[in-house]
Amino acid sequence: MALQNTNPSGTAAWQALRDHYTEMQNASMQEMFAADTQRAQKFHIKWNDFLVDYSKNIINEETLALLQDLAKETDLKGAIQSYFEGDAINRTEDRAVLHTALRAPETADIRFEGVNVIPEVYAVKNKIKQFTEEIIGGTKTGYTGKPFTTVVNIGIGGSDLGPHMVVEALKYYKNQLNVKFISNVDGDHVTESLKGLDPETTLFVIASKTFTTQETLTNAETAREWFLKHATQADVAKHFVAVSTNIKKVTEFGIDEANIFPMWDWVGGRFSLWSAVGLSIALAVGFDNFDKLLKGANDMDEHFKTTPFEENLPVVLALLSIWYNNFFGAESEALIPYTQYLSKLAPYLQQGIMESNGKSVGRDGNPVNYQTGTIIWGEPGTNSQHAFFQLIHQGTKLIPTDFIGFVQPLYGNQDHHDKLMSNFFAQTEALLSGKTEATVRAEFTKAGVAQEKADYLTPFKVFTGNKPTNTFLIKKLTPETLGALVALYEHKIFVQGVIWNIFSYDQWGVELGKQLANSILDEIVSGTVKQHDSSTSFLVGEFLKQK
Ligand code: F6P
Repeated sequence: MALQNTNPSGTAAWQALRDHYTEMQNASMQEMFAADTQRAQKFHIKWNDFLVDYSKNIINEETLALLQDLAKETDLKGAIQSYFEGDAINRTEDRAVLHTALRAPETADIRFEGVNVIPEVYAVKNKIKQFTEEIIGGTKTGYTGKPFTTVVNIGIGGSDLGPHMVVEALKYYKNQLNVKFISNVDGDHVTESLKGLDPETTLFVIASKTFTTQETLTNAETAREWFLKHATQADVAKHFVAVSTNIKKVTEFGIDEANIFPMWDWVGGRFSLWSAVGLSIALAVGFDNFDKLLKGANDMDEHFKTTPFEENLPVVLALLSIWYNNFFGAESEALIPYTQYLSKLAPYLQQGIMESNGKSVGRDGNPVNYQTGTIIWGEPGTNSQHAFFQLIHQGTKLIPTDFIGFVQPLYGNQDHHDKLMSNFFAQTEALLSGKTEATVRAEFTKAGVAQEKADYLTPFKVFTGNKPTNTFLIKKLTPETLGALVALYEHKIFVQGVIWNIFSYDQWGVELGKQLANSILDEIVSGTVKQHDSSTSFLVGEFLKQK
């Protein structure tokens, strides 16, 4: 079944939300907390090892009810069913969106064009299991018989960001293999990355769904040239494996068919870490941990599929984001994990969120008349507090922020963890409560500051507060909780795309740049600049003169 085609701005719920916004735009969260001591009790969701407190938002019960109405009017329920049942909801590419099948249990029956995909999924999973166990255990060796010490994943976009983020996030669970990532076509990046590697003990994983991506193929060729300086063509089979849907292109590149880990068209690039694109994850942390990551994601899938919207984490968080994006005019959201392990979560979700929902044409083929995709950015706390938090606290922009923290540290450094988490709680409190003029003046009086100086400084020291935040308090960073967290954001993307009436699973916008880069490359190589706008012609000409 195709997704329903409803302009959300024409729904009764949207109109009601507009009216409601006029009442809420100046609402004070401080006052709402003071008036209702049960607010946190009302506005939080506990699920497995997650506690998500969304009480520090500019909402009341009516806001939530109207947002739920919007979800109903845009047929979110039907859309969720289509998503999980493998309907071709990626209509502009005529594809299903079934990354959820990659983490389903072996007993599941998930049909794509009438055929259950689970046996195929598990065949590839078993291949990953066997291969990773042989590499980690040292029974599969390099061309001189030495066990592998280093894995280099060559891929870009979804074929890099997902595995890279997870390998970094699960560093605590890592084995002895050194896992590196090469993505940028920048030759300095590949040269730096290959520096110091031992060809006898390095395994290359070339990850590309299409196997046509310029960056990945160029880097793979450079890696192969580097390898062939030390070994023979026949040795390539032992050191190069590929993850792709494009078996023909991979074999043309010279990779043995036995060394291909297949994936399917119904896995979107930015949702592919659960597929064989996760091979470098399984190599880094072992297959069992990779499987636990998938299990955690599957638990979240079940929660999303079966929980009433009021208690449904991805739905509630998506609706809150729509509230700020479409009614308050917020343009961006920040994501602040209080663990260094999640330093790559925001860059990873930038692709997930911005490639998916950065669309301006509705499912009816007409330009949308409302805002869509949010800008996402962030860095781990507490570093980010000393970098950009000033703007969130006292700037002119409204930036709803997700705070993600963990109850238990991994190495048991309790002193550090208590300090880290006190900052975590303090920031959301400060963003909510701010600092009143009376408090600022009382502090000046206590410190004996002269009246004139106090009068001058007071406005600069007042914080309005009333800045919305969601707080995720998760028991511990494990493969399972990470899987669930990532799946939560994936489903949030889906919900928003459904409500915004856009197609979240294509990415035509990145194609134009690729096409133009190819024709400019021809001009650079031939030394002849063709007709462009005067700026581009001038710049390419200068580049050719100076290079
Ligand atoms: O940037 C566009 C894109 O198609 C992404 O969606 C994708 O993750 C990336 O390129 C890499 O594609 P591939 O895995 O086919 O090399």
